[in-house]
Amino acid sequence: MNGITKVQPTIIVILGGGGDLTWRKLIPGIYNLYLDKWLPEKFAIIGVSKSELEDSAFISHLKEGVDKFSRRGKADEAVWANFAKQISYSAGSFDDDATYTKLENKVEQIEKQWNTTANRIFYMAVPPQYFEQIATKIGTCKLASDKEHSRIVIEKPFGRDFESAKKLNDLLHNTYDETQIYRLDHYLGKETVQNILAFRFANALFEPIWNRNYIDHVQITVSEQLGVGTRGNYYETAGALRDMIQNHILQLLCLIAMEPPVSFNADEVRNKKVDVLNAMRTIKPEDVHQYAVRGQYGAGWIEGEKVPGYRNEADVKKDSNVETFAGVKFFVDNWRWQGVPFYVRSGKRMSETTSVISLQFRPVPHQSFPTNATVNWQPNRMVLNIQPRMGIKLSFQAKRPGLEMLFNPVEMKFDYDQSYTSNSTETPEAYETLLLDIMEGESTLFMRADQIEAAWKVVMPIIEQWENNPSVNFPNYAAGMQGPEDAEALIAKDGHNWFVTPPDGK
Ligand code: BG6
Repeated sequence: MNGITKVQPTIIVILGGGGDLTWRKLIPGIYNLYLDKWLPEKFAIIGVSKSELEDSAFISHLKEGVDKFSRRGKADEAVWANFAKQISYSAGSFDDDATYTKLENKVEQIEKQWNTTANRIFYMAVPPQYFEQIATKIGTCKLASDKEHSRIVIEKPFGRDFESAKKLNDLLHNTYDETQIYRLDHYLGKETVQNILAFRFANALFEPIWNRNYIDHVQITVSEQLGVGTRGNYYETAGALRDMIQNHILQLLCLIAMEPPVSFNADEVRNKKVDVLNAMRTIKPEDVHQYAVRGQYGAGWIEGEKVPGYRNEADVKKDSNVETFAGVKFFVDNWRWQGVPFYVRSGKRMSETTSVISLQFRPVPHQSFPTNATVNWQPNRMVLNIQPRMGIKLSFQAKRPGLEMLFNPVEMKFDYDQSYTSNSTETPEAYETLLLDIMEGESTLFMRADQIEAAWKVVMPIIEQWENNPSVNFPNYAAGMQGPEDAEALIAKDGHNWFVTPPDGK
């Protein structure tokens, strides 16, 4: 896949260049864009971190990351050497003005060499406690004063709650125009997530039935077998609701629930998503227990291996009240979705690693067939497999071959691996898509300020209620299970059950 690049000469400054995100995701992503010829001839990468490091040591560390994490495997030595000519390192602490002056000199020197004004991308690959400081210093040191040519990228978590997100937005707006700010949610870069819009709005077939008249309820599951691993410090300040639901899952929900955009203009698409968030029912504090459940994993078994409980993970308090599982029933109070529950759940140390969206259609209004024909009968269901299996399937009833009129559910499937010749090593990773969009100045797949704030508003009543009322029964699910029993109850009391995904996600 070779691109015809629209990217202008670009300097990518990675604040936190020595960190894990740069190593695992950003450099492998940029390197793949380079291989596919999406980068312009004039590009440069400057890594900034605290420790003193020679350019050569920095570059070989990055190469190790590419060898280990790139979807293409080990880098070709000669090609990497060419790419690496554009990489340099600048040591400095983020609170020191000298770091930014040094950076400014470096950037100016590159621009002089190129004899052009380059686009400057400031990528904050740092823990959130540095966001405000770095964003402000870049502003006061005038590194981003050319608004047309500078962009700033912020990873989640964007705030810890509505107030802190708003404060961060206000602070950013003191220095940057909204069009310069790229708030990144990596789920939006996934192929299967982008495909939701294509599926809904590039086909005439589905839209007429995509509403409360035909859809009974929607389920979104994002489950992981992994525990918190080495991220205990961060996770203790987050929990599943903040870590997954406020961002990734609400974004998936918006894509399912939004109205058709008039165009694919960035603001038009984002307006339609904000409409969904604004229409989401505010859960009253006294009703939170009816709409939301939480869980925390205890010790258990994953793929035959014994794993510790959350409270025994590194950097986690022995009596931690942080939830590693959250399940919520949301409603979108508008014409299209009135009365249709959106059940969402996400957890760590679950039985499977899978992200799936299921739309359960209503039963037929009248059964014309004899009772014995319909013993295996099931209403239609559409399943959008986001990962690891990528595809869409629709289940419907068919007559079993034979002399009797008997039905059973069968499936129509679209599977990426079968429909496209490219295999998964050729499918760009979410970060590649998003990095290219940032370089091209395309912001459709990034969170606008109002979107972030609206998403926080949706989850705030749950966060507050949970923080004010620590759970009395944590841990309440064993690692390797489907989450706590309360999650079953949440959906069972409405007469439904969570759809089980078979181990291979098919
Ligand atoms: C991150 C969360 O945003 O998404 C992690 O902080 C989570 O806790 C990860 O593991 C999941 O991403 P993916 O792409 O593996 O589904």
